[in-house]
Amino acid sequence: MAKQLYIETVGCQMNMLDSELVVASLRHQGYELVDNPQQADTILFNTCSVRQHAEDKIYSALGRLKHAKKHNPHKIIGVLGCMAQKDQKLIFERAPYVDLIVGPGQLHQIPQLLNEIAAGSGPRMEVSLDRTAGSRELVERSFESYDPLRDEQMRPSPYQAFVRIMIGCDKFCTYCIVPKVRGPEQSRPASHIVAEVRKLAAEGCREITLLGQTVNSYRHTADGHTTRLSDLLALLHDVPGLERIKFVTNYPKDMTPDLLQAVRDLPRCSHYLHVPAQSGSNAVLRRMKRGYSVEDYREMLAQIRETIPDAAVTSDFIVGFCGETEEEFAASVELLREGRFKNSFIFKYSPRTGTKSDELYADDVPEETKRRRNQELLELQTAISEEDNQAFLGREVRILVEGLSKSARKLEAETDLVQLTGRTNCDRITVFEGNRRLIGQFLPVTIYDANAFTLFGTVVTRHVGPEVYAL
Ligand code: SAH
Ligand code: SF4
Ligand code: F3S
Repeated sequence: MAKQLYIETVGCQMNMLDSELVVASLRHQGYELVDNPQQADTILFNTCSVRQHAEDKIYSALGRLKHAKKHNPHKIIGVLGCMAQKDQKLIFERAPYVDLIVGPGQLHQIPQLLNEIAAGSGPRMEVSLDRTAGSRELVERSFESYDPLRDEQMRPSPYQAFVRIMIGCDKFCTYCIVPKVRGPEQSRPASHIVAEVRKLAAEGCREITLLGQTVNSYRHTADGHTTRLSDLLALLHDVPGLERIKFVTNYPKDMTPDLLQAVRDLPRCSHYLHVPAQSGSNAVLRRMKRGYSVEDYREMLAQIRETIPDAAVTSDFIVGFCGETEEEFAASVELLREGRFKNSFIFKYSPRTGTKSDELYADDVPEETKRRRNQELLELQTAISEEDNQAFLGREVRILVEGLSKSARKLEAETDLVQLTGRTNCDRITVFEGNRRLIGQFLPVTIYDANAFTLFGTVVTRHVGPEVYAL
């Protein structure tokens, strides 16, 4: 009988892509994916260390498996990803029944390691080198970009795909664990990325999202020729079949004019730019070592608005960072108000062992204050999102239909006419009724209602030459 695999993924899109690729490689080895850990003989957690909460979730999930492992010692339990790299052996100490620990730079070893464990090797751990453990080159080599050949059967959606263009991060913002657990910044060769995207598009993929922790820092030199993200966008733009290109996450300082012009001039580039600000206070930005001032950030926003007037900009903010005063927080409120972001993710500062801020500053903003500040920013953002979404009423937008809406999925109805969901070119979630055959297509939709998070529309039916957009 096929071996049954269960995988749980937390964290960012990078982790989602990693999980997809790990599952694909294991399915090639004869594993079958199941959605219940009780049924599985291999249980994997792809983990995140960015905030304490993400780690707590995994440790309690592991705790719940203690019993299962006692009853079925052959069950293999594995911890992959960022927390595996950060905590390493500590995971064995906290959960001695874990069999496998694999950092994000060693994922290619998983099939082999699982075979060895099944053959009785005992617990195994493969992680990358610590950033100070050797020369840059040595550390880089220990973090391998995991990009095996894609398998169309194994993508969550045949029409959309993540494509990694770089790994790691060298920015070392003082609060952030990512440079430690994901290793040095390394861009993939442009030729590999183009080949991967061609294959995806040939298989029917309409939209790709390029991934990197600071995706706009992408830079790869081959044969004396350097490719920047703007050049890469131009190369990918002409791949036959591809309709939309997105990229996340941007670093404010690398939002250069060539990139903005590429997004403006290449019609398949989505007008959606995620450029986290983190704070509106210069003193806090300095303590965070973000490398820009709030004036720089405002200037960058102005450049975006000038070059791409309809761009939807989104941001991240951290509240309650070490020493954040009421005035400093008020500066973030002001930037969020002024920035008119499409959306902002607001996080309460969570100290991470092994980061500079944890070493240098006290986590001295009380939890209650963090919560209040989080709430305040969130409420303001929601009001702005709602107001800006109202501007879409009566307008026609172009949607890539992604699938059934949340409520349609719950209903599990077998009818053809269902509630569908998709996104506009500026990444706004749009819900409308249509035939399920429309999934994977681009469609014009007219918006008749909107709240802070969703646009509601009806499919435009019109004759385009002999072609009809039919329901
Ligand atoms: N590479 C991306 C973000 C990676 S982490 C970038 O540079 O923007 C995603 C978000 O988590 C960050 O933008 C930040 O807002 C938040 N974050 C990172 N470390 C954090 C910490 N220690 N506490 C709270 N939020 C954190
Ligand atoms: Fe973390 Fe800063 Fe790198 Fe983003 S740019 S991953 S916040 S260190
Ligand atoms: Fe988390 Fe690792 Fe992503 S720490 S946010 S899963 S890079």
